[in-house]
Amino acid sequence: MGKLAITGGDAVRTSPFPVWPLGKEEEALALQDVLESSRWGGQPFPGKYASAFAKKFAAVHTAKYGQCVNTGTVAIQAALKAIDIRPGDEVIVPAYTWEGTVGPVLLMNAVPVFVDIDPETYCLDARQIERAITSKTKALLPVHLGMRFADMDEILRIAKKHNLKVVEDCAHAHGGKWNGKGAGSMGDLGAFSFQSSKLITSGEGGAVITNNLEYLERVQSYINAGRASPTDQYHHRIIGFNYRLGEFQAAVLCAQLERLPEQAALRKKNMLHFESLLHHTTALGLLKPEPRITAQAPYGYVLKYFQHQAKDIPRAEFVGALQMEGIPCDGLFYEPVYKSSLFPLDPADFPALSWGREKPLDLRNMYSCPEADRAAYHEAVWFPHQLFLGTIQDVHAIAVAIHKVLSNIEELRGLDHKAIRNQRLGRADRES
Ligand SMILES: Cc1ncc(COP(=O)(O)O)c(C=O)c1O
Repeated sequence: MGKLAITGGDAVRTSPFPVWPLGKEEEALALQDVLESSRWGGQPFPGKYASAFAKKFAAVHTAKYGQCVNTGTVAIQAALKAIDIRPGDEVIVPAYTWEGTVGPVLLMNAVPVFVDIDPETYCLDARQIERAITSKTKALLPVHLGMRFADMDEILRIAKKHNLKVVEDCAHAHGGKWNGKGAGSMGDLGAFSFQSSKLITSGEGGAVITNNLEYLERVQSYINAGRASPTDQYHHRIIGFNYRLGEFQAAVLCAQLERLPEQAALRKKNMLHFESLLHHTTALGLLKPEPRITAQAPYGYVLKYFQHQAKDIPRAEFVGALQMEGIPCDGLFYEPVYKSSLFPLDPADFPALSWGREKPLDLRNMYSCPEADRAAYHEAVWFPHQLFLGTIQDVHAIAVAIHKVLSNIEELRGLDHKAIRNQRLGRADRES
């Protein structure tokens, strides 16, 4: 029996951390209101709550217009439709993100072009974008991943120079600001997810924000079965689908948005304290501070683990041991999308991959993104944001557990344990 919980010792933390999602009286009252209103759906369009939420959500992110949709993936799809992505167009995406960033590109029979991430931020590396641009490139799709922003100054400069559109994937960035500008308001459109792990949530849901009325109208038509947008100044008539958000979810979102500033302040305080407890810890690194982020929206706290400074014990062992100490965390949280088991790409389904070529593009094997590989398979450790919605004692427990595991890391050498085995697998492939 060892000192670590994974080898039979006592766990650092046995009581639970704050739960997520968190619904309170405000959500209950809003839900009751919808229940009694007999207007449950997103039609007449947009619903009362969906409309109020979208307006406020856009304003919080310094954008003029907002539109609720039923998922974050659809938000990206609708944003791509708004900028008129056509079959065969190329869209530049980061290699390290959730598969939902990339799926919408393929669904439109456009071609995702993967670019590696910046090791300091784990977001799309703006310095590598220009060499991926071709005559077919139509848009850039940066993701503000984890707790950082993609370098929007550089991305907007490149987009302007090459006449490209920009869609910001803000699924992790609710309430975040870059140089005072809201996430999603700097590019042509921003796409948000309200899936249950997100910083505000309605279980499932999404929103698009923009400063451009024509884009808003295209989004509104596309997600409302092709009907004219309520303003209809541009008279777009496009085939659309029912991607509307129902009023129950929109009502929950209204309550969640009210609570966001208070939660953001608490997370910030607790995360700063967490960092102060970790500075100078051998084998761990922090993402580089970024002064241009003027309001942080951390979907998770993301650390770097350096195996070579931890007696060569791999991350899977470190994370598995930390979990057994009672600390929810994850290592292989994302993979380079093209390597993921959730990306079983059959070119026959996506004809543009073959256009003008003898053989279809082999997206699964044609890329090498060493920084995405490093983050995905060796280095990144993700702690869910709700761990930082509690007390300073909660934060201390995380730091104590980290130091305990690092101080007893030899106990993990060669250890076989389900938590470790699971950490060698992507999230979709783990044993439950
Ligand atoms: C970075 C990123 N992009 C897109 C999405 C897609 O959002 P959804 O799951 O709501 O479709 C998610 C979330 O799941 C995400 O984390």
